[in-house]
Amino acid sequence: MAQMAEMAQPAERWDPEQYEKLSEYRQRPFEELMSRVGATSPGIVLDLGCGSGGHTLELAARWPGARVVGVDRSVEMLGRARSRDGGERVEWVLADVESWDPAQLGSPVDVIVANSLLQWVPSHRRLIPGWIAALAPGGWFAMQVPGNYNAPSHTLLREVAAKSPRAAEILPRLGRSEAVSEPAVYFFTLAGLGCDTDAWETTYQHVFDPGAFQGQPVLEWTRGTALLPVFEVLSDEGERADFVQAYGRALLQAYPPHPFGTVFALRRIFAVAHRKS
Ligand SMILES: C[S@@+](CC[C@H](N)C(=O)[O-])C[C@H]1O[C@@H](n2cnc3c(N)ncnc32)[C@H](O)[C@@H]1O
Repeated sequence: MAQMAEMAQPAERWDPEQYEKLSEYRQRPFEELMSRVGATSPGIVLDLGCGSGGHTLELAARWPGARVVGVDRSVEMLGRARSRDGGERVEWVLADVESWDPAQLGSPVDVIVANSLLQWVPSHRRLIPGWIAALAPGGWFAMQVPGNYNAPSHTLLREVAAKSPRAAEILPRLGRSEAVSEPAVYFFTLAGLGCDTDAWETTYQHVFDPGAFQGQPVLEWTRGTALLPVFEVLSDEGERADFVQAYGRALLQAYPPHPFGTVFALRRIFAVAHRKS
């Protein structure tokens, strides 16, 4: 089943195929997040920013009796999610989480998941109280965001952007990730809303295999995520190629290949809140 809702802002153009190329490295944080959610038989499970749906379908498998709803504003990602969900197990909703109200589901929600979404939603700290209010008593809210704004993958992106002839258009779009807060901020926000809260961070030392990605594995990773706002501006193939070449060169220095692969340190921030019964 699918519903259409109005789109509040222009979305980055996601490429599900590119995003899924490195999905094995996205699995462990999702599992570690969800391992802290203790719901046993939830009635409604809501996956905000569900993307191409792989994790949403895992939620559906974990809770076979639940009504599962996935919300995303990318037509491309949701299209891929629908095609994966042959049995139409999940309700896929095309909407912007900044304006979409979970009250539309008609009942309080038992589990809300926002996995690797909120770095794209600068207003998210304002939205969290509404999501907690949408929970049923005893409900769970689970979020995970990358905390890598100051990692070389991102500082180099801003450096290359600053030298680009289109810097004035690109740089403001790269500032969005500043929206991500420290774990303590999420802890105090959620605990202050009356939830039993667990917040933590983990830095994964991912080992990418250079052979599989033409020697540019970190570039392949960022092509699926951090580069998307740059691509919004640089639609011309030539301009885009020049930018990617300069950025790729810088990345190779920061993340050199080793005999065992290319090490990509990725910090992630987690918070799980349990609304009191
Ligand atoms: C990094 S992907 C994460 C996908 C999925 N949660 C997962 O675990 O693989 C981020 C997704 O958030 C979506 N997104 C970003 N901002 C959004 C917004 N304001 N409203 C709805 N979806 C949004 C994007 O379209 C994209 O599919």
